[in-house]
Amino acid sequence: MKYRILGDSDLKVSAVGLGTWAYGDDTFGSIEDQQAVNALRAAVDSGINLIDTAPAYGDGHSEVIVGKAIEGIRDKVVIATKCGVYRDGEDYVRDLSPSRIRKDIELSLSRLNIEQIDLYQIHWPDPDIPLEESVEELIKLKKEGKFKYLGVSNFGRDLLTQITNMTDIISLQPQYSLLERKLENEILPFIIEKKMGILSYGTLGGGILSGKYTEIPDFDDEKDNRSEFYPFFKEENWSYVQELIQLIKEIAANYDKTPAQISINWSITRPGITTALVGTKNKKQAQENAAAADFQLPDSEMELLTRKSNKIINQMNS
Ligand SMILES: NC(=O)c1ccc[n+]([C@@H]2O[C@H](COP(=O)([O-])OP(=O)(O)OC[C@H]3O[C@@H](n4cnc5c(N)ncnc54)[C@H](OP(=O)(O)O)[C@@H]3O)[C@@H](O)[C@H]2O)c1
Repeated sequence: MKYRILGDSDLKVSAVGLGTWAYGDDTFGSIEDQQAVNALRAAVDSGINLIDTAPAYGDGHSEVIVGKAIEGIRDKVVIATKCGVYRDGEDYVRDLSPSRIRKDIELSLSRLNIEQIDLYQIHWPDPDIPLEESVEELIKLKKEGKFKYLGVSNFGRDLLTQITNMTDIISLQPQYSLLERKLENEILPFIIEKKMGILSYGTLGGGILSGKYTEIPDFDDEKDNRSEFYPFFKEENWSYVQELIQLIKEIAANYDKTPAQISINWSITRPGITTALVGTKNKKQAQENAAAADFQLPDSEMELLTRKSNKIINQMNS
């Protein structure tokens, strides 16, 4: 495993991080609690130390699972969770009001069963609440010791400029993968200039970049609506993406790696990326994903992947 310092902080984090959206067991497929605990433990045993969760994942259930899984190994992990999005039935509701943030963090600490959160992130912007009000409350909570460092997720350039003028932000969590690279245009230079870290999410495009799907998967709509969030599974994009999957598979075969490892390795090698978060449902995936940090693809293969990714993204956007 490779380790890196996250932005301007003393957090040493693994280049591959563990995403736990699926541990909510509600919108990313079914997963037994014990299986999720075992997957997290296997990830930590394989060198992954950054665990990302959120109250919105299974209405707190993901945080409960993370809390159980890290019992006795708190000192080995960096815990990142979020505020500002809660669940109302199937809906994800944004709320960055000071009272909601305070309630969110108390609930997160109790579910995770920890004294302090290492990285507390604003999950999504809330256009109905002035950012100053949210930040003022977050500064109070930080002073109270509820969390160590503040990060943001899904912030555009303007909001990043605003918030970094108000307080210290160590990281951004954006979607980033071979299939989603909007980050690179305006945001990345800002992040690099400000010496912030990036925890990228959707590293496997929700699983498609593992190359395991030979036809459009028939996800269980009741419990798995990942294709609403990751549009690559939709008919119009699916066929474009196959050309990229083919290249990933060829490179994987040449280097005796799996396609998932090639996709993850590409992400963690790109400029500015501190950690690529990968959702991991079992021990096998955990070990495989962690090992994606243990090799270096030659520049020629990186370039091939980047060029093909450009082509496919342009096709999807046309
Ligand atoms: N801040 C935000 O707004 C936001 C949004 C989305 C995600 N995130 C965070 O980022 C994390 C990662 O993103 P994600 O989980 O949405 O998507 P992802 O990492 O692109 O895909 C994860 C899924 O891919 C499949 N997979 C993982 N490893 C595999 C392997 N080695 N071989 C084959 N299949 C494999 C698993 O699903 P199957 O086995 O069922 O296919 C897994 O649930 C999330 O868990 C969450 O912590 C944050």
